[in-house]
Parts: sequence; structure tokens; C-alpha cells
Amino acid sequence: MTTVLAIETSCDETAVAIVRERQVLAEAVASQIPQHQAYGGVVPEIASRQHLEAINCLLQRVQQETNLSWAQLDGIAATCAPGLVGALNIGLAAAKTLAVLYQRPLVGIHHLEGHICSAYLAAPDLQPPFLCLLVSGGHTSLVAVQHGQTYNPLGQTHDDAVGEAFDKVARLLGLGYPGGPAIDRLAPTGNPHAFALPEGKISLPGGGIHPYDMSFSGLKTAVRRLVEQLPTPLPSADLAASFQYTVVQALTRRAIRCAVDQGLTTLVVAGGVAANRELRQTLTTAAQRQGIQVIIPPLKYCTDNAAMIGCAGVLRLKQGQVSPLTLTSRSRMALTDISTLYEDHSRTNSG
Ligand code: KG4
Ligand code: ZN
Repeated sequence: MTTVLAIETSCDETAVAIVRERQVLAEAVASQIPQHQAYGGVVPEIASRQHLEAINCLLQRVQQETNLSWAQLDGIAATCAPGLVGALNIGLAAAKTLAVLYQRPLVGIHHLEGHICSAYLAAPDLQPPFLCLLVSGGHTSLVAVQHGQTYNPLGQTHDDAVGEAFDKVARLLGLGYPGGPAIDRLAPTGNPHAFALPEGKISLPGGGIHPYDMSFSGLKTAVRRLVEQLPTPLPSADLAASFQYTVVQALTRRAIRCAVDQGLTTLVVAGGVAANRELRQTLTTAAQRQGIQVIIPPLKYCTDNAAMIGCAGVLRLKQGQVSPLTLTSRSRMALTDISTLYEDHSRTNSG
């Protein structure tokens, strides 16, 4: 059984966990939301400093809880891309230090692979192939997860990520940061059909509409225009409900169509926006009608957490993939470039 320590510091949560196979043995999180709230969004410099202050205490906590010594671990996993580089560096430096001190393998993890692997925490028997609707603050895509844990991106946003759209619309409505949960709470009190908002569509060069690609910036602009034109007090609940309804319809339609077209009978929803109650409900109902099984991790594993990074770390270690200690963090990285995070074993072995 493979046991890893995992560290996640890509944005505004410092999180550590110890994961064995697909089971969480211990986890600890320090949220920075209060520190960023005054600025209405994440301030990278503050994020790095907060990670640095929190990490040692969190590491100590999970170690005490499990009574494991670091030397007993099979590896140390840390998110290394994509994310805020200063923030990623704190977690990666901590992981490298422990890897060197205790001579354990280092495993750099792609943050989005972590989100995809959160599904294994919810459904330990799950195996590829399946479709993943990845909806976070920085990314929105439809990815086919294939045998051997390889990724085939089938659809994506052409502008804002869906979480970003939630956050920007929440700011327009004066709901503060983080915006997604605030809209989620307010929307059920409003009328989703009060305002007809445009669903962003992506045209194909040869004509027609891309079936899986999406766009959210036009929707956000439409809400901004309404906010500018409507008399105060703003009908915030109706605006939140109409916005959320439009987003959920757009995501549901594409995800179900994609799963059906690709012949994939399991749909995983992962990333912070998977915490959205209307999305969970609507997708589940639509999928059931098509005989598609839906897996959505529990709320604490939808938003950023270290357990999902541990789950990905276990998978990579089992495939013999280890990162060099020269690994650096990166702000951007495609899911299809994951293999560049690991040492080339074929070359090492033959040389
Ligand atoms: O995955 P995540 O924690 O961090 C990134 O990797 O980006 O996602 C954060 C995003 C934020 O945009 C936040 O507003 C959104 O997820 N979010 C939600 C909800 N909870 C978090 N959006 C809609 N409804 C929610 N309940
Ligand atoms: Zn995330």
C-alpha cells in the first residue's frame, strides 16, 4: 500500500494530508480567506507569506495524528503547477526539504490532475475511462480520462473560467470574495428566469457551433450592463439566480452531450465550482436521464485540498514516476504536459 504526504499551496489554502491509496489518513487546512477578503480577491504576496507561516504547523499536526514518521512514507507529493508561483514555491520547497532529509521520492503534481483525482476519494473503485467536467477558479474544461491516467481535453472555455465568472459577478453584485459560495447561497431566493442572459457559444471556423467549448465573458458583461442600467436597490437575488441558471445550463448541456458522444458512462465533476448546489443537482438529474453515472466529491474535496494531491501522488508513484529535485513551479501548464514533471526512467535505466 502506497502512503504519501501531500502539500497543496497553489492559491489561497495551505493544505497538507497523508493519503494511503485512496484513503485519507489525516488532513489539515489553513484558509487565508479572511486575509484576502479586504482586497476583494487573492493577493499573491500575502498568499505566499501566509503559506510560509502556516505550513510547519500543519505538517506537525498530520504527523501527530497518524503517528507516522516521514521516513515511513513512500513519497512526498506537492502541487507544482499551475498556480501562483510564489505560493507554489512554499509548498514545493517544504516537500523538497523533507524529500532530501528523509531520502523519500519527490512527486510534483499538476493541480488539475489533483482535482480530477478527488473523484477517487469519493469513489475508491472508480477506474478510467470517464469524462471529467473540471470547473475551478482558473480552469474550465471537459477532459476524457483514459486508461493509464492520461488526459484528452475535449472542450474548454475560450475566456473566463467559470469560477472566475462567479467571482466577478459576485463582485458586481457587491457580494464580496469568494464569490461562488455567495451566489450559491443567494440564487435560490431569486427568480432564475427574471433576466434572459446570453449563453456564450463558440463558432467553428467552417460554420456551426463547437459542441463542447464555452465562453463566460459575454455573460459576465451582460450582468455588468444590467447592474449599470437597473435602478437601485439592485434585484441581486434575481440577477444571481439568472446568472447561475445560465451557467449551469451551459455546463450541463455540454457535459452530457460530450459524455454521450464519447460513449463515456461515468461523469466526474471536480474543482471549486463543483461545490455549487444547483450544478450538482441539475447535472445529476440530466445524467440520470441518459443513464450516466455522476460522481461529485464531497464539498471539502471540490475546493482546493491536499487529499486530492495525495491521491494523484499515489497514482504517479505506482506508475514509477518520480520528480527530480530540480523541479520548479510554473504558473501555467497544460494537463497534456504532465509527463515533463517526471524523470525519464527509460533514459536513466538505459544510461
Ligand atoms: O478549485 P478551486 O478551489 O481553486 C482553483 O483551483 O481555482 O476553485 C475556486 C473557485 C472560485 O472561483 C470560487 O468562487 C468557486 O470555485 N466556488 C464556487 C462555489 N464554491 C467555490 N462557485 C460556485 N458555487 C460554489 N458553491
Ligand atoms: Zn483548484
